[in-house]
Amino acid sequence: MHTELFPGIDWVGFVDWNIRDFHSYNTERGATYNSYLIRDQKTALIDTVKKAAADTLLKNVQQLTDLDKIDYLICNHAEQDHAGAMAQVVSMLPNAEVVCTAKCREILSGYTDTSSWKFRIVANGETISLGENTLTFIHTPMVHWPDSMFTYVGEKKLLFSMDGFGQHIASSERFDDELPLDVLMEEAKIYYANIVYPYGAQVTRVLQAAAGLEIKMIAPSHGVIWRKNLGAILEAYQRWAAKTAEKKVVIFYDTMWESTEYMAKAVYEGVLSVPGVSCEMHHVRKSTLTEISTAAMDAKCCALGSATLNTLPTPTMAAVMNYLQGLRFPIRHGLAFGSFGWGKGAVEEISAWFEKMQWAPAAEGIRCKWRPTPEVLALCEEGGRQLALKALED
Ligand code: FEO
Repeated sequence: MHTELFPGIDWVGFVDWNIRDFHSYNTERGATYNSYLIRDQKTALIDTVKKAAADTLLKNVQQLTDLDKIDYLICNHAEQDHAGAMAQVVSMLPNAEVVCTAKCREILSGYTDTSSWKFRIVANGETISLGENTLTFIHTPMVHWPDSMFTYVGEKKLLFSMDGFGQHIASSERFDDELPLDVLMEEAKIYYANIVYPYGAQVTRVLQAAAGLEIKMIAPSHGVIWRKNLGAILEAYQRWAAKTAEKKVVIFYDTMWESTEYMAKAVYEGVLSVPGVSCEMHHVRKSTLTEISTAAMDAKCCALGSATLNTLPTPTMAAVMNYLQGLRFPIRHGLAFGSFGWGKGAVEEISAWFEKMQWAPAAEGIRCKWRPTPEVLALCEEGGRQLALKALED
């Protein structure tokens, strides 16, 4: 199966309909690994797919050309969803040079024996002419691995952007004007929150470099190819890379016998009492880490509540804290709350974690023993109100 982007330039990748867990990223809509074939006087295959899909990729390519006609295998990124099939593919391409950054070669060689591969290491801005099309390589370190690069075809104003601008969505459609834009933007935001977010400064530098290019089509390594809504996805990336937070509070809680849930609902009421602040609430065992992180990405404030289990927050809440710590969202104010029976612990742990995260407490941590009393619920409501007032501050 293949899809034409331009005459002589085709998508030849793999649609992964059944994947639901992409190294802990919850891919509800599946995924694609996009490879592209450029047939010119010289032939180039851009990126491969994950290891298990190597045969599909090779079959797609062979529908268009003989494997010995491929001169270049461009590896924009060594992560194994794109490079897992490299060993098998390289062994089938007798005349291909593997074109990549020096760091990419180092990583590929860390994953597999590359001693027989013919590498061509390209510098930032270096070009390779295929005939009518010229490939220009743009190094994009830490977007989102140290090896990463984009490949640009100036004659077509076409950017192969690797993970950048990607979305995890399996579909029979290949282009952004063939699926609802709101679904694509939702998936692009989920992707950005979970994969790209910590590298906002690097994304900004790449966007500045890309501003000097004329781009009519962006072909990422995941999801649809952008040919109609480039303005929407580029504007969203600028906004997300700037790490701007909205007047928004997120409430994440875990509960054993509903006491912490009563408290969470009181915090929610307090937040809603402040006009102009939006609020999103998640029971962390009923939402995925992927949904939770996406909700937190553009929030200014966060309330975390947990029942105490064995003197600590629940295991699921601990996982949420761990994940948020790595993603480093721009949340600046927190509110800790939770219930206990005979031994305290959860609120103390969450409050200590706020200190590590440099989230200033909007109010003192709120504890309740067994069931929250009306007085405790009033404290929760007031805590939510204080948190919402912080969300209104610049
Ligand atoms: Fe889609 Fe960073 O790999």
